Amino acid sequence: MTGPARGIEEFFRRRYDREALYVPSGRLALYLAFREWLRPGDRILVSPINDDVVFFTVLAAGLVPVMGPLDPATGNLDPSKVDESTWSSLKAVMTTNLYGIPDRMDVLDEKCRRHGILLIEDACQALDSRFGDRRIGQFSPVAAFSLTKHVQGVGGVLCFSEGDRRLPLARRAESETHRRGVVQRARDEIRLLVLDAADRTATRGALSALRHQVHPAEQEREGHRMPYDLAQVLRAREEGGGLDHFNRWVRVDNPNYRTEPLSREITKTLTQLTCFEDNRRRRLEGARKLLSLGFTPSSLRVPADIALFRVPLFVRQREHVLAHFAGRGLPLDYIYDPPLDLYAAPALAARIPSPDQALAWSRDVLPVDPLRADQFLSIMKASPGILSPSMELGG
Ligand SMILES: Cc1ncc(COP(=O)(O)O)c(C=O)c1O
Repeated sequence: MTGPARGIEEFFRRRYDREALYVPSGRLALYLAFREWLRPGDRILVSPINDDVVFFTVLAAGLVPVMGPLDPATGNLDPSKVDESTWSSLKAVMTTNLYGIPDRMDVLDEKCRRHGILLIEDACQALDSRFGDRRIGQFSPVAAFSLTKHVQGVGGVLCFSEGDRRLPLARRAESETHRRGVVQRARDEIRLLVLDAADRTATRGALSALRHQVHPAEQEREGHRMPYDLAQVLRAREEGGGLDHFNRWVRVDNPNYRTEPLSREITKTLTQLTCFEDNRRRRLEGARKLLSLGFTPSSLRVPADIALFRVPLFVRQREHVLAHFAGRGLPLDYIYDPPLDLYAAPALAARIPSPDQALAWSRDVLPVDPLRADQFLSIMKASPGILSPSMELGG
């Protein structure tokens, strides 16, 4: 392991007061947690509003997802609406902390303790979130972080409270991680140098347009979800599961999710973490502006000192609004539509329906990066009437 990777682990060790392991992505961190703490066939409660990549990572580990009910007030699981017989059938629960909004950690903590269930925190969107006086990532024996979200770095981190798990986890990570060959490494290093130079000379957009013309990007998603083919999913499961068989889904948006990052990329990531206070301050400022627009219901109470990953606005005709902003250089992402319980119904062991209002979190949500609040506001001002509030959540 390189010095900067150790530096990243040290950052997390100090921040979360627990052991930390740097790996190539957040999804690989989750996969390692599933394999280390759970067994194939175990049932895990998850939220229907989540990335399909996470859902396929659950399937790759051989787990049986149980889709919980959504809390319309937070966009996360509503543990109070899960009945006792479901709790007693579960081996684990995974939080989402959607856009950085904390899950109901008090209720989840109590339920998991009472039923002897493992709590896994997906903190990939919650690098700066708290519930009460504890950070998200400090409640459970194991939490996964992504370094491509709040900071635009590479990799993920697995944090865990039992230090003696480090060796088996590091071995497992080693066996799941691909190394680049000499030629591949040289090519990737050069590509990175060119991109860095393009960044400095502000030609990155032109370069990417040229590359797109020469090699048009593969269409990985239809709308907001990747195509779902039940026969393919079942075949991947029958063939033994694991990341190799589920690769076509787990790799989406990041084909390098299990490739050791280049040391130059890790160094840049560490630098971004070291300067995180500035990122945080700008996020808080951007979120304040976005929340004051009145498109987020007052029922969503997020403490003002949590730096969100995205600020959820709720609008009518969301697809039209997305196209409008994308056409003006501001693509808006991290939309989970349709909810996973509708998207993947046939592969699910069980589904606990969500209240009707919860649909707003997939159909109407417009997640805006607070770091791009000014750009969002200027497009909005130049297009009077483009946004009208969705009333679904009673905002
Ligand atoms: C909630 C959530 N968890 C986990 C991941 C996976 O993180 P990574 O992209 O670092 O693999 C994502 C990816 O977007 C995500 O949105």
